[in-house]
Amino acid sequence: MARRNKVTVVGAGNVGATAAHWIASKELADVVLVDIVEGVPQGKALDLAQAAPIDGFDVKLVGANNYEETAGSDVVIITAGLPRKPGMSRDDLLKTNSDIVGSVTDQVAKYSPDSFLIIVSNPLDAMAQVAFRRSGFPKSRVIGMAGVLDSARMRCFLAEALDVSVENVTAFVLGGHGDTMVPLPRYSTCAGIPVTELLPEDQLNKIIDRTANGGAEIVGLLKTGSAFYAPSLGAVEMTESILKDKKKILPCAVFLEGEYGINDLFVGVPVKLGKNGVEQIIEISLTNDERSALQKSAGAVQELVDVLGI
Ligand code: LAC
Repeated sequence: MARRNKVTVVGAGNVGATAAHWIASKELADVVLVDIVEGVPQGKALDLAQAAPIDGFDVKLVGANNYEETAGSDVVIITAGLPRKPGMSRDDLLKTNSDIVGSVTDQVAKYSPDSFLIIVSNPLDAMAQVAFRRSGFPKSRVIGMAGVLDSARMRCFLAEALDVSVENVTAFVLGGHGDTMVPLPRYSTCAGIPVTELLPEDQLNKIIDRTANGGAEIVGLLKTGSAFYAPSLGAVEMTESILKDKKKILPCAVFLEGEYGINDLFVGVPVKLGKNGVEQIIEISLTNDERSALQKSAGAVQELVDVLGI
């Protein structure tokens, strides 16, 4: 009998609960939702389980306040931590969230030693590095979700500007998940045509700027938290590519050891995700300006990692 996949989602806030929702509605895996707040993961898992007969998905959903239930998970999505409030940068969350992500990682590594970790907590690249160091997992099994979100934002804005289907638009974003991220219009296309052929430079620059500040735009609107629909679906797309061995090329934060001239640091680059996790890191050629923008972005991540001493 085929075994069902099992995914643990740590953090039953908006990102975690919505990730559980997407996983269930896609019937990707049984889900364990974990949170330290008593009742919340149980309540959300139960509510979602009661949606199953309506939507017709057959997955088991449970909530828990500890990690026993999570044992043997194939993928663990870590969303735990504080979200941003208006006026805060992702980096303001550094100390608090590194403590949270560190202790979550200890539990996850204990109960699911063979799992793939997908990190969503902010500041993203530094938190992926925390999970990598604390778990002792190989670098192919610790992956940060940011590029899928950032490029989806850029795709959304490009499709709107071009008045075409979002499905026609691809977008490429490199670098850390912060203000210094590097959207690359040269490698972004509409039906295969580089967008640099289709939109004037000033309009592209506005889209690049809006993409880089996409998270803050939503924090400013929501006031009490940050984005969750697109971030959670980004993590679920990565999960699906691993569980189904789809080998999608997705921009993800991974541990670089010399690629793009960056060493011992999580930074967003295009990777192939399959049943072995990160199966390939794809190096594309960059112009001098693009390369120095990427170096600057990596420098911003390095500063955080240095503060944490990891
Ligand atoms: C964002 C947060 C989740 O970009 O980092 O919306």
